[in-house]
Amino acid sequence: MTATLTAPQLLTTIAATRALVAAHRAAGRRVALVPTMGALHDGHLALVARGRELADVVVVSIFVNPLQFGPSEDFEKYPRTLDDDLAKLSGRADAVFAPSVPEMYPGGAAQTRVVAGPVGERYEGAARPGHFDGMLTVVSKLFHIVQPDVALFGQKDAQQGFLVRQMVADLDLPLEIEMVPIVREADGLALSSRNRYLSEGDRMRALTLSAALRAGRDAAPAGVAAARRAALAVFDAEPDVRLDYLVIVDPATFLPLEDDATGDALMLVAARVGATRLIDNAPLVFGGVAG
Ligand code: PAF
Repeated sequence: MTATLTAPQLLTTIAATRALVAAHRAAGRRVALVPTMGALHDGHLALVARGRELADVVVVSIFVNPLQFGPSEDFEKYPRTLDDDLAKLSGRADAVFAPSVPEMYPGGAAQTRVVAGPVGERYEGAARPGHFDGMLTVVSKLFHIVQPDVALFGQKDAQQGFLVRQMVADLDLPLEIEMVPIVREADGLALSSRNRYLSEGDRMRALTLSAALRAGRDAAPAGVAAARRAALAVFDAEPDVRLDYLVIVDPATFLPLEDDATGDALMLVAARVGATRLIDNAPLVFGGVAG
């Protein structure tokens, strides 16, 4: 018997989710988990599609996790669009786990946290203190609830993916992590649930992020410093976009690369466009030495 591919089964409790997954596993089926906060777009659907290739059963979690939002962030106004999300997942996912906050945190909030470590304090972690500890704590809970064979994350949140992989290795969690390439609009804007906050003008200015990444990639043959300079010049030309950070890191350590580095690299950017904070990244290769 293969799992049904019509409307996904909606599960709101941990017990029901465990029971469903246990039945699939008992039947020898491989389970994929796509953790999301909802407000699904084509980037999420690419994760679901890749999950289908890697497993027999695809479970999507939809949970806006309060633990990973700072006090001045957009937890209250983060888009919650469950009906729309379920419609998008119809024919794509087998089950949706959409718990309430009390179901996930019956005591108010988890007292025990997963600590992301030093890389979790850089870049996004420096801008959003505690964000990665909250993210890893909920991801670890989701892994324990669903017990997937594979979990899928978007490359747009590259630092998140690095830290999830680090947690899985450090804590010997028995699953694979699959990173799925960024999905972009035709003009280069990386898909994000937060793009819906952008006004028409901000939407245009948001292209500064992907344009800077392209400029960095084009200048990469001249080295790390040249790539950084070229990308920064794109931000300098658009003063209405406030750059938070632009950094070139080693994808294996997520630490900044020295100017004389060669091999694979990742350029990460974060910037505020109007009231919306956006992130993006792209791979670069220095010195023609691909790893
Ligand atoms: O990337 C996200 O949407 C969230 O950080 C995640 C992984 C679902 C955890 O809440």
